[in-house]
Amino acid sequence: MQFPVLFHVRLLSTLICLQLLLHAGNAATIDRTSEQGEAAITDPDQECTPYDYAPVTNQMNSFPERPLQSGTPYRLTSPQTSPRSYSSSDPDCWWTYGQCTTPKLADLPPDITAAPEPSTLGYGFDDGPNCSHNAFYDFLQSQNQKATFYFIGSNVADFPLEAQRALTDGHEICAHTWSHPYMTTFASEDAFAELWYSVRMQMIKLVVGVTPTCWRPPYGDVDDRIRAIANALGLQTIMWEYDTADASVDGKTITDQTVVDNYNSFIQKAEGGAFNSTGTILLTHELNNFTMSEAVSFYPQLKSVFQYLVPVGVSLNKTQPYLETNYSLPTFEQYISVNLAPPQIQPTA
Ligand SMILES: *[C@@H]1O[C@H](CO)[C@@H](O)[C@H](O)[C@H]1NC(C)=O
Ligand SMILES: *[C@@H]1O[C@H](CO)[C@@H](O)[C@H](O)[C@H]1NC(C)=O
Ligand SMILES: *[C@@H]1O[C@H](CO)[C@@H](O)[C@H](O)[C@H]1NC(C)=O
Ligand SMILES: *[C@@H]1O[C@H](CO)[C@@H](O)[C@H](O)[C@H]1NC(C)=O
Ligand SMILES: *[C@@H]1O[C@H](CO)[C@@H](O)[C@H](O)[C@H]1NC(C)=O
Ligand SMILES: [Zn+2]
Repeated sequence: MQFPVLFHVRLLSTLICLQLLLHAGNAATIDRTSEQGEAAITDPDQECTPYDYAPVTNQMNSFPERPLQSGTPYRLTSPQTSPRSYSSSDPDCWWTYGQCTTPKLADLPPDITAAPEPSTLGYGFDDGPNCSHNAFYDFLQSQNQKATFYFIGSNVADFPLEAQRALTDGHEICAHTWSHPYMTTFASEDAFAELWYSVRMQMIKLVVGVTPTCWRPPYGDVDDRIRAIANALGLQTIMWEYDTADASVDGKTITDQTVVDNYNSFIQKAEGGAFNSTGTILLTHELNNFTMSEAVSFYPQLKSVFQYLVPVGVSLNKTQPYLETNYSLPTFEQYISVNLAPPQIQPTA
């Protein structure tokens, strides 16, 4: 009777030893200090385990809390809590109520809502970097597909090596504010801070080394006052024409099936020739496993109904996407001329 018990104990301790060995092995091979090391992690839970990145940790006390707190140097006022009243004359070109994208204030450029080239999708994803994005970025890499990523500044602070991967992989980076608020509810100073801390000289620059010149307002909530602030910071406002609602699944009014239906009806529109003369932009997210999985599963269909899927900056021939002049994007013609092997977005000097 004792033999089996002993046997069990020995088996157990052998298993425990094996497990310890495996763990030690993992710990030795996982490098969480470099972009390449982090990009090589394939277990999403491991990817999402916080890590320390000294350049961010050392600077974190010069960045705001999230969300920005009232009464701090970063946040002067409380956001308006009552909804703004909407006037049908829409004097401020407020997108949230009127979907207005052509400013009424003089000297502001219109928002970008579409890729100008025929049969072209301005391909991009909001709300990253998501810590578990390696599988998705690996997929894009396997397809030699570049996209535009609209990064949230505080996510960049949390997962800096993930943010760096976007640049390394040749994607275009635009800003998506510091903490993802409804921008039109903010006092101008706070709206400025939301853009400043995510972009100009701040988190994206600190971590990735570049200063974006494009942004997308969270929830599309922009009006001429906010556009003027963004414009003064050198940020082009990028909107969209179609929305998958992939980030809005609540299980009630918007379900996973709603998102699938939205993708399918968008694909049908493209099939029907809706973008034969002018391309478009579709709103999709890097938010979580669901949004990234849908992006992967609909990729082949998007590729087949559009002639070209390109980063928005490429569709605009925006060859210098950042303030720093040593990075460049290909022109649209360059990107598509070697269609199966578009040039990498590489530092040119
Ligand atoms: C759109 O372009 C495709 C491919 O060239 C063509 O087959 C289709 O008839 C066009 N549709 C419309 C509505 O122009
Ligand atoms: C990233 O995606 C994972 C997997 O879906 C999810 O658990 C996590 O909450 C997301 N993180 C962020 C910061 O959005
Ligand atoms: C979604 O999660 C599963 C399970 O962790 C993982 O195998 C898969 O690669 C993830 N997909 C994406 C696109 O992140
Ligand atoms: C991009 O460049 C191509 C080729 O020079 C031109 O045909 C196209 O109109 C340009 N697009 C934009 C948005 O400037
Ligand atoms: C590009 O220039 C910036 C300074 O403007 C510098 O910090 C960065 O290292 C340069 N990057 C490359 C790849 O040369
Ligand atoms: Zn967003």
